Amino acid sequence: MTTPAKRLATEIQSPAATRPYDVEAIRADFPILRRQIHGHPLVYLDNAATSQKPQVVIDALTRYYESENANIHRGVHYLSEHATEEYEAARESVRAFLNAEAAHEIIFTRGATESINLVGQTYGRAHVGPGDEILITAMEHHSNIVPWQILCGEKGASLRVAPINDAGELLLDGFASLLSARTKLVAVTHVSNALGTIVPVRQIVDLAHARNVPVFLDGAQAVPHLPVDVRSLGCDFYAFSGHKVYGPTGIGVLYGKSALLEAMPPYQGGGDMISSVTFEHTTYNKLPYKFEAGTPNVSGAIGLGAAIAYVNRLGIEAIGAHGREILARATAAVSAIPGVRLIGTAKEKAGVLSFVLENVHPHDVGTILDQEGIAIRTGHHCAQPVMQRFGVPATARASFALYNTIEEVNALAAGIRKVQEVFA
Ligand SMILES: Cc1ncc(COP(=O)(O)O)c(C=O)c1O
Repeated sequence: MTTPAKRLATEIQSPAATRPYDVEAIRADFPILRRQIHGHPLVYLDNAATSQKPQVVIDALTRYYESENANIHRGVHYLSEHATEEYEAARESVRAFLNAEAAHEIIFTRGATESINLVGQTYGRAHVGPGDEILITAMEHHSNIVPWQILCGEKGASLRVAPINDAGELLLDGFASLLSARTKLVAVTHVSNALGTIVPVRQIVDLAHARNVPVFLDGAQAVPHLPVDVRSLGCDFYAFSGHKVYGPTGIGVLYGKSALLEAMPPYQGGGDMISSVTFEHTTYNKLPYKFEAGTPNVSGAIGLGAAIAYVNRLGIEAIGAHGREILARATAAVSAIPGVRLIGTAKEKAGVLSFVLENVHPHDVGTILDQEGIAIRTGHHCAQPVMQRFGVPATARASFALYNTIEEVNALAAGIRKVQEVFA
């Protein structure tokens, strides 16, 4: 049997970025894309909510449960040791994917949401006090607002919000002017899920670090589209969800710099996060286990490892280039339709096309497109403050992945015209 370490080494050494990007061959890797919905071929454009899974990820999950299932870290028997190796190989895959310095800086969580709550309840509780401030932006997902609000409420601190312009771009001067001696943490999205804006996070890190303020980056929408190098970004924390990058649900990642993670109190208590327990006193396990209480999502981590290997085989640069072309074509096609207003027109965008249609509620747009087999998302996208900023109750959002095609973009545009005919 190939060991997990050997398999990982082969995967890392053989990026396929030099091969031409063959979207039809790639689509064949995703069984769900062969489905018909309401008698039409599925056009799946809800990738910012969750991505579809390639066969290699489905196979990794099946293989694990069919022939490898065991609890990890505490068995001396073969299966337990093998499952542990697979789980830790997945951690190493994530480390390499983010270019973190050490595997122990990668904590497995349930997803981006849990990663953010973890930082709030550990780092945040330890470092934020009355009168302090946490600085976010006006384009955050609720996941990167509410945990900080809870912390501020507990501690008598306040949430400050850096403004965005009408294109949905962060106003860096406004951001800089909100940084002060009271700022204890900056928490910013790398890519906006509602607008698609790519935030200049390197500049944000520089501005915050100039004032010794640590930076948390929410990479849930960035990781599927952009190469992410946490060391060159210089961020202190980085979070993402496996299911948005072709992995399973229920698994996510928190990256944190060693020194910060070492100094943080644990998040949850339980098995595996301890090194010794008496009724009087508990000492905690070393990193990363201190933050992984209880039986973790072993199959999820292994599935995420398989998803990262898949992304690496295509090459994140090639995926990004394909995504830029699809988004550019979609932007041109949809904005050419009379009565369409794009919400989010930043110069730097990834993956997301949000829009509203004159005299038609976004839910009606979504429902009629669904009848054509086209899956988009409508609503506030867990970003109600963004909707308020743009004066709309909701938008229709098409979001793209590595398997989407120009034909699907054309189907979206044709579908929107059909919506208009229905409402004419
Ligand atoms: C920018 C952003 N942050 C955080 C999240 C939360 O991710 P999850 O629900 O997978 O924890 C999402 C999900 O849509 C998101 O788009």
